[in-house]
Amino acid sequence: EKNLSKKNKCIVIGGGIGGYTAAIRAARLGGQITLVEQAEIGGTCLNWGCIPFKLLLQSASVASTVNKAKEFGIKTGPPEVDYAALISRKNQVVAELRKGVQSLVKAKRIRLVVGSAELFDGNRVEVTSKKNATASVEEIQSDRVIIATGSKSSSIPIPGLDKVKAQNSDDFLNSRTMPSSTIIIGGGVIGVELAQILNGLGGSVTILELQNQVIPGFDKEIADILESELKQQGVTIIKGVLISGAAMSKNKLKKIVTFKIDGKEQTISADEIVVAVGREPVMSGVSPQKLGLDLNNVPMKGIKVNCHMETNLSNVYAVGDVTGEIMLAHVASAQAEVAAYNALRDEAARPKVMDYKSIPSCVYTSPEVAFVGLTEEQTMKKVDVEVGRFPFSASGKARLLGEIGGMVKIIADKKYGEVLGVHIIGSRATDMIAEAVLGMNMEITIDELANTVHPHPTLSEGVMEAALSLSGGAIHIP
Ligand code: NAI
Repeated sequence: EKNLSKKNKCIVIGGGIGGYTAAIRAARLGGQITLVEQAEIGGTCLNWGCIPFKLLLQSASVASTVNKAKEFGIKTGPPEVDYAALISRKNQVVAELRKGVQSLVKAKRIRLVVGSAELFDGNRVEVTSKKNATASVEEIQSDRVIIATGSKSSSIPIPGLDKVKAQNSDDFLNSRTMPSSTIIIGGGVIGVELAQILNGLGGSVTILELQNQVIPGFDKEIADILESELKQQGVTIIKGVLISGAAMSKNKLKKIVTFKIDGKEQTISADEIVVAVGREPVMSGVSPQKLGLDLNNVPMKGIKVNCHMETNLSNVYAVGDVTGEIMLAHVASAQAEVAAYNALRDEAARPKVMDYKSIPSCVYTSPEVAFVGLTEEQTMKKVDVEVGRFPFSASGKARLLGEIGGMVKIIADKKYGEVLGVHIIGSRATDMIAEAVLGMNMEITIDELANTVHPHPTLSEGVMEAALSLSGGAIHIP
């Protein structure tokens, strides 16, 4: 690599998807890399987040397929959930994936140190490792440091919530039994995915959401469709709530939540309460005050970075949830690519820039939700737009799959035809959004998207038809 700096020693703190991606890229670029992880390699996404949640969602989806089997001419008995088997499958797949990452790290000759790191400056980190009861401290010198310490579930100061031992998403994943009824505080991404899991596996679920839409930040029309689909499946969703307290029932068997809606106080009870009100950066071993490390304010107090993923401290970079920017695994790995390159490049070489222009957001409910770009609410304030829609009820593929809920919605600039936002709710939306991400990266116009030949029969034709509805008219809608 001709642009490589001679200063090639790099320490990465945190072995989540941001950290291990940075370590592998930096090693591929020829660096001598030390990766420090205090818990499990793979971090939140692999161990306690994306992967285990999607595994449980898959089990819920299998149960729902068995429930609908008759519709497809297949006779079965009603599905029976074996929660212990489902959890052990989850643990097994997670362990396999963890082993996979470990072997990738090993293959790149990255030194993996199990322990907790403390950052002193861009050239020095101390790692405390515990073996049996004894702790040892190792000082590691380096040319660059990449901080990738991740995030944790946020809590909310609701009186009584501690006493009733309300769970967060980690606690939920660690429990060996499934509650038969659950109150979920927060109808964001974790809230709706968890509701889908529990409801799909036969539990009863109530979501209490502060705002007037679930998955705030997503296009409201799409979020409202998701809400009605979830309600139809049996999830109770109460929006605009102000939660005031939690307590145990008199017989100590149920957990009770008190909240106000339209000024009226109400209570509901369930076996379990799970809090999913967001996540916040974790800076263990990184003391912003002591180091003089700048933090940002948007949206959480994370480590402030510039577009090269550099912090204000020389030779120190930060990536992933700890930056508090957009807390998504794929953002962390994209930031890690940028940070690793910049950390190892020759100073004369041009740095790579992190581009947030077309970042997809996905929700793995049934139907799935995915979008890239602007929502209709955001564009209404900025430019003159036109909106094309294609309902999956008009798609042959959706009909044969028996998945006719949802639609593709495309927002385009009225004058120039540039695609500004693509929103999909429906089966396999999270895979289909990739086309829109690529298109928007290349500043695609609505005519270009409409004129792109899509395979038949696929759900992806919905993207083309939605584009056609703004470019000469869709074929399969009147
Ligand atoms: P979130 O920010 O998506 O949603 C939190 C929800 O809680 C919001 O709807 C908010 O209005 C609500 N809320 C806040 N305070 C409340 C209160 N006092 N009472 C009732 N509701 C309240 O956060 P979430 O779902 O916890 O997810 C955490 C992070 O993990 C997010 O950054 C998300 O992007 C990421 N994640 C991403 C997934 C995906 O991409 N599929 C899946 C799971 C998590």
